[in-house]
Amino acid sequence: MSTGETDYWRQRWLDGKTGWDRGGASPALLHWLDNGVMTPGRILVPGCGHGYEVDVLAERGFRVTAVDIVPEPLQRLRERLSSKGLEAEIIQDNVFTYLHPDGPFDAVYEQTCLCAFAPEYRPAYVAQLNRWVRPGGTLFALFTQTPWRSGPPFHSSPEAMRELFTEDTWIWPAEADLSVPHEAGFTELGYRLVRRPAQPDT
Ligand SMILES: C[S@@+](CC[C@H](N)C(=O)[O-])C[C@H]1O[C@@H](n2cnc3c(N)ncnc32)[C@H](O)[C@@H]1O
Repeated sequence: MSTGETDYWRQRWLDGKTGWDRGGASPALLHWLDNGVMTPGRILVPGCGHGYEVDVLAERGFRVTAVDIVPEPLQRLRERLSSKGLEAEIIQDNVFTYLHPDGPFDAVYEQTCLCAFAPEYRPAYVAQLNRWVRPGGTLFALFTQTPWRSGPPFHSSPEAMRELFTEDTWIWPAEADLSVPHEAGFTELGYRLVRRPAQPDT
């Protein structure tokens, strides 16, 4: 699977092979919002799919940008937002190259996008996450735990994630905030990683 595999993902959407799709916002997002650790600001939702979380974030006063490479789920997201009188920036683009003209975000909500990519593509995707979150900003990440050897979704163990999201760039919590089972057979571990402030030039 290559990094810009539009045809693969579009076909999955057209065939309805979207077992990841909950049909509503993740309990993890609601947990972080209701516990006051996710506060309004500019937030990016990469690989948003139907983007149910976008509705909730927009309702709660966030300036949301949502990106996906496939047009059909984005169109449904636009229509749903419009029917609710909500606004968000919905962009069809490739997360491996996408950057916002206004610069980094206060936060990124990462839900089953990283695990969509085979492990060899992770460093390039994490480099984008490093660019997207401003110094001092937060990455709300759901790391997918699967019993399967292959994917997508690809198993994203906390140990592998700690190697990818390195301590020189990210401040890690001691443990996950929560664990959310998914009816598709995987579990998501919710971590809040804080982007380290930029180091002054020496
Ligand atoms: C496993 S789905 C997760 C969707 C959504 N985050 C959710 O949890 O319901 C992965 C999503 O990433 C999108 N995607 C895959 N490759 C992409 C790329 N290179 N750039 C942007 N989106 C991509 C797919 O179209 C799909 O909607």
